[in-house]
Amino acid sequence: MTDKELMELAQKARGKSYSPYSHFRVGAALLTKSGKVYTGCNIENAAFTPTICAERTAIFKAVSEGEKEFEALAIVGGREGETAAFTAPCGVCRQVIAEFCPKDFKILLGDPDQFRSYTLAALFPYSFSGNEFN
Ligand code: THU
Repeated sequence: MTDKELMELAQKARGKSYSPYSHFRVGAALLTKSGKVYTGCNIENAAFTPTICAERTAIFKAVSEGEKEFEALAIVGGREGETAAFTAPCGVCRQVIAEFCPKDFKILLGDPDQFRSYTLAALFPYSFSGNEFN
């Protein structure tokens, strides 16, 4: 699985986005160390707060299937009816990624034709790990 292929799967997942309130459509593709891919999209709700981001949909799908070792995460987002624009994960998703992934975990942002690779450490420095209480 190449980075570009993972980005293409994220873009395809973006097509499943349920976002009638923000009209902002996001897809994510999470590659496991075992080579499987779990995709996700954002799923909004009339009450707003139950909304879940594409990244967390993908991560929770994977973890609920017993996967906890991840290689990379691709994210493709943008306004409805428009081609993807650079979309970075929200703070809540960064915290959830940090729960399962190491500092050097690869996060791909952009669109399949133009994307950049970031580490989790670059996107989420000085994160809370829970070790503060140990
Ligand atoms: N959203 C994501 O799914 N992932 C992100 O990285 C940023 C935001 C969603 C949440 C909401 O449905 C919409 O995009 C607008 O914030």
